[in-house]
Amino acid sequence: MNTKKVRKAVIPAAGLGTRFLPATKGIAKEMLPIIDKPTILYQVEEAVNAGIEEVIIIISKAKEEIIHFFERDERYEEYLISKNHPEFAKIIKDIATLAKITFVYQDEQKGLGHAILCTKQAVGNEPFMVILGDDLIVNRSGDNASKQLIDAYYKTGTSILGVQTVDEKVTYKYGIVRPGEINERFIEVLGMVEKPKTNPPSRYAALGRYLLTPDIFDKLEHTEPGAGGEIQLTDALTKLDCLYAYDFVGERYDIGDKFGYVRAVIDFSLEREDLKEQVSEYVRKKS
Ligand code: G1P
Repeated sequence: MNTKKVRKAVIPAAGLGTRFLPATKGIAKEMLPIIDKPTILYQVEEAVNAGIEEVIIIISKAKEEIIHFFERDERYEEYLISKNHPEFAKIIKDIATLAKITFVYQDEQKGLGHAILCTKQAVGNEPFMVILGDDLIVNRSGDNASKQLIDAYYKTGTSILGVQTVDEKVTYKYGIVRPGEINERFIEVLGMVEKPKTNPPSRYAALGRYLLTPDIFDKLEHTEPGAGGEIQLTDALTKLDCLYAYDFVGERYDIGDKFGYVRAVIDFSLEREDLKEQVSEYVRKKS
C-alpha cells in the first residue's frame, strides 16, 4: 500500500461553544478543564501519543487565549523553581514543548467543512488526522482512537472516519454512515447523511475522529452549504472516490454536552490516585 506517514493533526477550536454559556462568554470552551487539565490538552496529548509531530489548531480572534496557553513562559518557570516548585515548572514547560503547535484562523463560522478547508496551506499534500474537541475518547485497553485510525489508514490508503454504534434515538445528532461491506472493524462507506431527522441509514455515527487524505480539500472547495446552512465535512467526505469507516475501541465522552462533561469529570476523578477515594465515597453518600 502506497501511503504517506501521518505527521499532522488538525483540531478545530474556533466554534462559539454556545452549549456551554455563560462560561463560554469568558473562556474558550476548549479551555474548560476536566478537573485540572483543559480539554484541548487531552486532544493534543492524544495526537502526540499517536505519533503526530505537528498539531494545527483552528481558532478565531476571540480564542487567542489558546495560543497563550501553549506558549512557553520561561519567567513563570523560573519563578516556580525559585519558589521550590520544580514539579509545577515542569508541568507548564511540558505544555509548550509537547509538540510543534501552529494556529490557523477561521474568521467566519461557516461550519466544520469550512474550518478544515482553512488548513489547506498548513496541511499541504499529505494525510492528516482531525480531532474534534467535543469528543473526548479514552481507550483504557490499548491504542488511542487517533492511533487506531492512523493504523487503519496504513491498511486502506483512503480517508477513514472513526465511528461507533449509537442508540437509534440519537442518530439525529451525528453524521451517519450508509454501510457497504463490513470486514471486522472496517466498514465500507457507500454514503453518509449529516444529522438525519428521519430514517437514518444505520446506527454507525461519526464520533469526532477522521483520517483525511489531502484530496478532501478539493472536495470541500466544491461543497455547498448543507445541514444547518453550514459547509459540512460529511458532505465532502461522500464525494471521495473511496471511503471507509473504522469502528474504533474506546469510551467517548461528549464534553460539549453538560451531562457528558459531568460524566467525564466523575470518571476521570475516579481514575486518579489523588482523588478516587474521596470522590467515590462522596458519590456513594450522595446517591
Ligand atoms: C460534527 C459532525 C458530525 C459528527 C459530530 C461528532 O457535528 O458534523 O458529523 O457526527 O461532529 O461529534 P457537531 O456535533 O459539531 O454539530
